[in-house]
Amino acid sequence: MSDSRPIGIFDSGLGGLTVLNAIKKIIPNENIIYVGDTARVPYGNKSAPLIVQYALQITQFLLEKDAKLIIVACNTASALAISTLQNDFDLPIIGVIAPGVNSAVKLTKNNNVGVIGTNATISSNAYQNELIKISPSIHTLSQACPLFVPLVEEGLLEGPIVSAIVEYYLKNLDLSRIDTLILGCTHYPLLKPAIKQYTNNLMLVDSADSLAKEVHLILKNNSIINNNADKGKQDFYVTDSPSSFANIAKSFLGYSIINVKTASIS
Ligand code: DGL
Repeated sequence: MSDSRPIGIFDSGLGGLTVLNAIKKIIPNENIIYVGDTARVPYGNKSAPLIVQYALQITQFLLEKDAKLIIVACNTASALAISTLQNDFDLPIIGVIAPGVNSAVKLTKNNNVGVIGTNATISSNAYQNELIKISPSIHTLSQACPLFVPLVEEGLLEGPIVSAIVEYYLKNLDLSRIDTLILGCTHYPLLKPAIKQYTNNLMLVDSADSLAKEVHLILKNNSIINNNADKGKQDFYVTDSPSSFANIAKSFLGYSIINVKTASIS
């Protein structure tokens, strides 16, 4: 059995391209449709009902494009909308929270885990709840870092401004207590060098790789892996200007993309 229908990946904007990279590395034959909701980014400071509404609309769009599985690459949308999406739609829908938590639980030795993310993700307690579900003895410390996303969007990944903002947020976490820190936002892996510099030996968890492995397993278990000749295609849809997305996407992907189309999603 082979299934060349695409995997749908969506994010509020560009950040989910870090997840697309991991998928490409682990399951390169899969065709992918990526949606970046660039007209409505950021999600991280919006209310839960609005985030759920956006996630439902994009999932519907991806279903119309014949997606066989959907990845919610956005941590904020995963935190707020994953259960609604999984209840309302009849196809595998995977978020980034559970894979990140699984990795952290495997890594921590002292059962004290830190989580950083957007305001909406942190106030939802989604990571904390998932951590306790999997390992009830885990203690979680969390911190919202709302300025990290605009830093990355500006291409500011290192230097004195970045270091000052990293310190501004992370000084609120008791770093002597935790041994593992979950980067609970699509953009934060790009700030890894600056975060590492401040956190020294902490193990940093970014869920993209464990998510990609989980997706591979789901495709195998459902016999929907793509082995057709028609493979490895990527289509990009955005809700605002395709050209500005294509320009910045290069820094996330390391290669240029040309096939970016505008989608009207509402
Ligand atoms: N994609 C979002 C996340 O992972 C970050 C950007 C936003 O706030 O929309 O939480």
